[in-house]
Amino acid sequence: MSNTVQASETIEKDENVIWHQHVVTKSERADLKKQKPVVLWFTGLSGAGKSTVAGALETELASRGYHTYLLDGDNVRHGLCRDLGFSEQDRRENIRRVGELAKLMADAGLIVLSAFISPHRAERALVRELLPEGEFMEVFVDASLEVCESRDPKGLYKKARAGEIPNFTGIDSEYEAPLKAEIHLKAGDHSVAELVEQCLSILATNQVIR
Ligand code: ADX
Repeated sequence: MSNTVQASETIEKDENVIWHQHVVTKSERADLKKQKPVVLWFTGLSGAGKSTVAGALETELASRGYHTYLLDGDNVRHGLCRDLGFSEQDRRENIRRVGELAKLMADAGLIVLSAFISPHRAERALVRELLPEGEFMEVFVDASLEVCESRDPKGLYKKARAGEIPNFTGIDSEYEAPLKAEIHLKAGDHSVAELVEQCLSILATNQVIR
């Protein structure tokens, strides 16, 4: 199928597909859960601790009675995004899909934690734009390449250095650090418990949690 055909089909579909406003609203769903929906978007290098900190934060939020969901890059790539690899184009599509999914989950009234490298500022900005002001909080899990490579929890840096994994973030594929994240975690210098405390304190200041 040529790009031209694809493009015209997309336009035709857009004109004929009309948004259906259902009766139960986002705020009613959130009110039932007694919480404010938010997307906490963890970004950082592989091995920086995104999944670990997001998981520990989710555990704490759940123990306080909040309704959460953690979207994890490695997990989502086993299902929803199993057809995608690590080219620039596939990573963009990965983040686009997950951004839309996070938006739906926020619409369901959930506190969404997402842990994806999401290496490009532009894609992260697109996800931010999907959500109302204040409902997207970028969490920069900031650990240097040296720290991540020395941890190498999955042995992937070793493989990447050996040329066995092309386009590996930080090695031969770029990572664009956030310029102004809502939460900046110095993940190389602090314990997971300290990083979770930092997140909780900023969430409380922003009245996301009580
Ligand atoms: S993203 O760049 O598209 O946001 P995502 O977070 O979904 O990446 O997946 C990253 C995970 O895939 C890493 O934690 C690592 O386990 C694995 N992985 C496999 N190949 C690569 C690669 N080339 N670059 C980075 N991570 C990779």
